[in-house]
Amino acid sequence: MQKQALQPYLDWFDVYVADYHEKAGENASFVERKQRHTMRVLDHVREIIKESGATQDLCEAMEIAALLHDVGRFPQILDTNTFDDRVGYDHGEAGARILSETDLLDSLPMDIRGVILSTVKYHNRAALPDNLGPDALLVLEVVRDADKLDAIRNNLKYLNPDALHGKALKSGLTWHDSEFSPVVYDLAKSRKLIPFGSINWSNDFILFLCCWIYDLHFNYAFTQLKESGNYKALLAKLPDNTLISEVKAQLWDDLNWIIVKS
Ligand SMILES: [Fe+2]
Repeated sequence: MQKQALQPYLDWFDVYVADYHEKAGENASFVERKQRHTMRVLDHVREIIKESGATQDLCEAMEIAALLHDVGRFPQILDTNTFDDRVGYDHGEAGARILSETDLLDSLPMDIRGVILSTVKYHNRAALPDNLGPDALLVLEVVRDADKLDAIRNNLKYLNPDALHGKALKSGLTWHDSEFSPVVYDLAKSRKLIPFGSINWSNDFILFLCCWIYDLHFNYAFTQLKESGNYKALLAKLPDNTLISEVKAQLWDDLNWIIVKS
């Protein structure tokens, strides 16, 4: 996308974030974190675009959707004091609603506007609705891959018992060096995604993140996970007992196998 074409959206986003930053009080650092997260997701999306084979219009939609995907996060932290969507605030739905109430996307073709709004609305769903058109699905896959890459990076930073649960770290985790849930282990061993509701222990959450390799779509995403060292660092957070070592080896082999194959 030409740099100047994204500029009106960047300008809108800066004003939008500055407004929440001003009102955030003790949550100002969380507003800043989400702003930095957004820009890193945009960078990842720009890399994925190079291999996406998408039309110019859709590439533009990918960049705009990346920039706007988390607009619901800013009112969420101010209104609910948490980033936990399970307390009755879906930041994807809220973001789509906020954007629909502005004229920001009005100059775009109707179908592209719909693709962007669907991406914002559904980007945080565990499973996507099955009635999405191919364009919306492609843009969602691009943004969701990019979002996961930065979420893994961020979680690595805050995966410790002292991180603020519900803000830096997901809420509802019990921190423990070695405990894990058998059902979560079995899902990881079967190369399945782990439902958030199954997570009890911190190791369950780490396995949940590790299993995201089974929900990525683009070569860049797999390669970035490996070359950044983030996947290795994530696996290193798991304990070294015999059972977990087995699944760790499988996850690492799977990532490498996918990279070689793609
Ligand atoms: Fe995000």
